[in-house]
Amino acid sequence: MSVLSGKGRLTGKVAIVTGAASGIGRAIAVAFANEGAKVVITTDRNLEGLKQTQALAPEGSIEYRLADSASAKDVEGVVAFAEERFGRLDVLCNNAGIVTDAMLVDTTEEDWDRTINVNLKGTFLGCKYAIPAMKRVGGGSIINIGSINSFIGEPLHVAYCASKGGVLMLTKTAALEHAKDKIRVNVVCPGWVDTPMNTEYIENIGGRDKVEQMLETVQPLGTGQPEQIASTVVFFACDESSLVTGTSLLVDGGFTAQ
Ligand SMILES: NC(=O)c1ccc[n+]([C@@H]2O[C@H](COP(=O)([O-])OP(=O)(O)OC[C@H]3O[C@@H](n4cnc5c(N)ncnc54)[C@H](O)[C@@H]3O)[C@@H](O)[C@H]2O)c1
Repeated sequence: MSVLSGKGRLTGKVAIVTGAASGIGRAIAVAFANEGAKVVITTDRNLEGLKQTQALAPEGSIEYRLADSASAKDVEGVVAFAEERFGRLDVLCNNAGIVTDAMLVDTTEEDWDRTINVNLKGTFLGCKYAIPAMKRVGGGSIINIGSINSFIGEPLHVAYCASKGGVLMLTKTAALEHAKDKIRVNVVCPGWVDTPMNTEYIENIGGRDKVEQMLETVQPLGTGQPEQIASTVVFFACDESSLVTGTSLLVDGGFTAQ
């Protein structure tokens, strides 16, 4: 993974990135750190992945915690840890997410609950506990990770699509409720990005060449890389976007343009 060259746009800020043990979350955490932020990263189980993310960032810029985004106790604990360790909280990126592949009628109640709990309830919990901390420092920026599936449905992903649609409306509502607190809330919605989330799917449809062929028609700019999502998230995190709240940005290589 290439490391983005920072311009200090987040110097003095403290951030949390959930689900940063791989993929998009890892790229966001490293980009934040390269921009001068102190960052707390989480995952529910992949401790090794968190250590690898930490190793990609400037020394001393990233701390990690095991925390399940679907657990109120864990999420509250991460916010408290960020404040204790780095003295404040300015930025939260609710990135942790999972996907389940099944037709609606074959989706188990357990898979539905887990997907909604991690993707949607996790985003709610992140906002719920980060907002009071951001109020204590006079404002902040929350960036939720949605998906093209915040806007368009997709067979075999009913729970995922429902969760990501919910993240879009949660974002708008939180933005309206907290503009007065100078807390901005936006959602970045990726198209197809090359991350471990898609590894199994890539194997199932016959490998990377097949994916590239498929993407030629649906995502005109081709496969996305995690760093291309991270650079957009940095824009929302820093003061360059100070008048932007309650909005969504599709970073999807043209997927939804057609
Ligand atoms: N890869 C894509 O094509 C794509 C497209 C649109 C949106 N997204 C979204 O981007 C985000 C990141 O996904 P990714 O593609 O990097 O996949 P990924 O599988 O590489 O990363 C997901 C991360 O979430 C963590 N995680 C899973 N369950 C968790 C939990 N309960 N608590 C805390 N952490 C947990 C994982 O450990 C991992 O670090 C997700 O919200 C996903 O829905 C991805």
